[in-house]
Amino acid sequence: MKTAATLGHFNVELVRKDFPILNREVNGKPLVYLDNAATSQTPTQVMNAIVDYYSNYNANIHRGVHSLSQEATDAYELARQKIQAHFNAKHSHEIILTSGTTHGINLVANGFTELLSDQDEILVSALEHHSNIVPWQMLCERTGSKLKVIPMTTSGELDMAAFDELLSSKTKLVFVNHISNALGTVNPIEYIITKSHDFGAAVLVDGAQSCPHIKPDLVKLDVDFFVMSAHKVCGPTGVGILYGKEEWLNKLPPYQGGGEMIAEVTFEKTTYAGLPHKFEAGTPNICGGIAFGAALDYMNNLGFETINAYEQSLLNYATEELSKIDGLVIYGTSEHKAPVISFNIEGIHPYDIGTLLDKMGIAVRTGHHCAQPIMSFFDIAGTVRASFAFYNTKQEVDVLVSGVKKAKMMLS
Ligand code: ALA
Repeated sequence: MKTAATLGHFNVELVRKDFPILNREVNGKPLVYLDNAATSQTPTQVMNAIVDYYSNYNANIHRGVHSLSQEATDAYELARQKIQAHFNAKHSHEIILTSGTTHGINLVANGFTELLSDQDEILVSALEHHSNIVPWQMLCERTGSKLKVIPMTTSGELDMAAFDELLSSKTKLVFVNHISNALGTVNPIEYIITKSHDFGAAVLVDGAQSCPHIKPDLVKLDVDFFVMSAHKVCGPTGVGILYGKEEWLNKLPPYQGGGEMIAEVTFEKTTYAGLPHKFEAGTPNICGGIAFGAALDYMNNLGFETINAYEQSLLNYATEELSKIDGLVIYGTSEHKAPVISFNIEGIHPYDIGTLLDKMGIAVRTGHHCAQPIMSFFDIAGTVRASFAFYNTKQEVDVLVSGVKKAKMMLS
C-alpha cells in the first residue's frame, strides 16, 4: 500500500537526511518542527553553497576587476537567472533582489507615492499579513488615496462578489496574498488579476506563503508585481525578490540612493542605473542570493507537484485527526488550502497550548500571526498554528495530535 511517506517516488525519510536540524532534540524530545510558515529549515545542499562562497570566493560584486569579485558577480547573477527561470519571468532584470517580502512591498508602496492622488482607491484583502496592510496605509497617508478592504467569509475565503462590487475606475492598485499565512486559504489570484486589469488597476501578489508549495508562472499569471522571501523555500533569511513587469519598474523611482544604483553622479545631478540595479543600492546579500539559487535548485529537484501532493496528504490527515478532538475549532476551512492548520481549544489560551507543546518538542506558532484583522474577524486573541513542509511525516502529525490532547487535559 502507498503510504504518505512513500507517495509516488517521494521518500520522506531520505529527504529528511538533508536536514540535520531535524535530528535534534528539544526539551529532551525529538524535534517536531511545525512552524514552516514562519520559516523553513535549511538542507545541507544550501548550507554547502554558503560555506563554498565564504571559503572560496567571498568578494564584493559588480565592483572589481579581480578574479574573486568576478566569480562572486557571476554566481550572484547566475542565481538571478535561476530565480527568473523558476518564476518564468520574461527578463532577469525584472527580478529585483531584496531583503525579503516586506522590503519588496515597501519598495512598491514608496514608488507609487508620486503616481496616486486623493481621487484614487487601493484594494487590499482582509486576509493580509501586516506587511501587506501597513505600507499601503502609509501610502494612503502620503497621497490621500483611500484604502478599501475586500471582506472575508467565515470559512476564511475572500468574498469575491464584494470584490467585484469594490472594483471601479477609481481602483489603481490591488494587493492580495496568494496564500494566507494565518489560515492557509489559497486565494483566486488568477481571477483577481484578470478582473483588476479590466479596470486598469495594477496587482501586487504576496507570494511569501505560496512559494513553498506552488511554482508560480508569472508570465501566465500576468501579475504586475510579485514578492516573496527565500527563507520560506529552504533558503537563508535576509533575501527575497520583488518581481515587477519591466514597464512598471521603469515607471517607479528608486527606493534607496547609494552605490550601484547610479549611472553617473555629480553634485549637480545624478542619473540612475537601469534595471535591476536602479533598485539595488548598496552591497547586497551576495551569499544569500547565491544560496537562494541553491535552494530553488533543491526544491525543483524534488519537484513542486510531488511536494504539493505529499503536503496535501499531511494536511488532510492532520485535519481529520485534530477535528476528532472535542472542543477544537479550526479557523480557515476553505476548499483550497495550503498545509496550515490554525486552531484553538475552547476555553484555553493558544499561548498555553504552544508552551506545553514546546515542552514535548513540538514547534508551532501561537498568537495573531501578524494578521490582527483576521483575529478580530473571528473575535479571538490568536490561534495555535501548525504549518507543514514536505519533510514532515505522518508520525509527526500523530505526535502533534497526542500532544494537543495532553495539553488539553492538563489545561482543562
Ligand atoms: N509571516 C511569517 C509567519 O506567518 C513570519 O509566521
